[in-house]
Amino acid sequence: MKQCRICNSNTQQIISFGKMPIANGFVKKPSSKEFVFTLKIAFCPKCYMVQLGETVPPEKMFHDHYQFFSSTSKGMEKHFKKLANHIIKLIDNKKKPFVVEIGSNDGIMIKHIANAGIRHLGIEPSVNVAEVSKKFGVNVSSVFFNKKTALDINKKYGKADIICGSNVICHIENINSVFEGVAELLSDDGYFFFEEPYIYDIVKSNSFDQIYDEHVYYYSGLSVSNLAKKHGLELVDMKHQDVHGGSMRYYLKKITKNKVSTSVKKYIDHEEKLKLHELEGYLSFKKKIDTVCSDLIRLLKKLKSQGHTIAGYAATSKSTTLLNYAGIGPALIEYTSDTTPSKIGLFAPGSGIPVKSYQYFLDDKPRYVVLFAYNHKKEIFAKEVEYRKKGGKFIIYFPKVTIE
Ligand code: TMP
Repeated sequence: MKQCRICNSNTQQIISFGKMPIANGFVKKPSSKEFVFTLKIAFCPKCYMVQLGETVPPEKMFHDHYQFFSSTSKGMEKHFKKLANHIIKLIDNKKKPFVVEIGSNDGIMIKHIANAGIRHLGIEPSVNVAEVSKKFGVNVSSVFFNKKTALDINKKYGKADIICGSNVICHIENINSVFEGVAELLSDDGYFFFEEPYIYDIVKSNSFDQIYDEHVYYYSGLSVSNLAKKHGLELVDMKHQDVHGGSMRYYLKKITKNKVSTSVKKYIDHEEKLKLHELEGYLSFKKKIDTVCSDLIRLLKKLKSQGHTIAGYAATSKSTTLLNYAGIGPALIEYTSDTTPSKIGLFAPGSGIPVKSYQYFLDDKPRYVVLFAYNHKKEIFAKEVEYRKKGGKFIIYFPKVTIE
């Protein structure tokens, strides 16, 4: 990909991770026939969007056996309940408000909107995941959100007071079509907001494993503000979220005489200080990534040579980039335990590391575990007090490799 998907300018490559499988593509049996693509990210010097160089057709990632369920973490449950309450407050003055969530997953957020008796629609193309949300009384449509589907929704339900999405707006390659859809569906004083991993945090804390097939865009205030303008929208607020290793929630409104929060300038100033509006700001990133990978391999080999069992903790999509780029497989990490029942018995994409149950980990008590769900560290450390008390050690790899 040479042209920016937003503004069609020539992009500049930041880093290539080489051939990668689908991050969430857990397999029944490791095989050399797994689908691969070249994972690389590029920067647009005109609109500042950081984006994947090559994308994967959405049907390969989001299908009827998609393995990502949002409600696997108590921390995220809490986070999304808080977000639902925030939405309910925002529409407090509306008579018959209508809330649309793009990528409603298993209903982790929108079930609270449904419970409050508010008119709503979840959009979730992965049918198996959408089915889960229906059990909570969520009204859900299994389509991809774009201009056409937005027009259909508008016809059936009228304008939306809130359109929102979490960890999904960065997934959609044809983002211009999503924004066109938002411009059609949003009421004149409505809010469109979304939260996604924040490129500032990724660069600053070196959390490069946020880079994988599903994440087509790596947003900043700089790039979202340009994208919004293109579609008659304005970035009016930014609120940092302490989830997924650092996320940003962007609030957009139709361009009128909006009051823009001082946070927008504050965060954009931070981004410019890190030079995220120039290729230069991303150059040290590759060097830091390579250091983490080589330090981690050196540590795992040393522990292995001392006879220790090393396991992984949580079979996350994120770990696919690290494992495949660093070339780590079952010879170094015997298995990864995970609490998602449908992942157990499968193998991690590319690396072929088997996924075992959480109970397996509890019985096995490996001396070392690599924390692949570092974004849930607080919750996991609270849960694993006993394991750590008895000598169990977590290997953390961001921002650098440490043992805790
Ligand atoms: P995420 O980091 O993309 O949210 O993925 C979370 C994965 O981690 C999911 O497969 C469930 C797993 N997990 C555990 O196995 N144990 C835990 O305590 C937590 C919080 C998550």
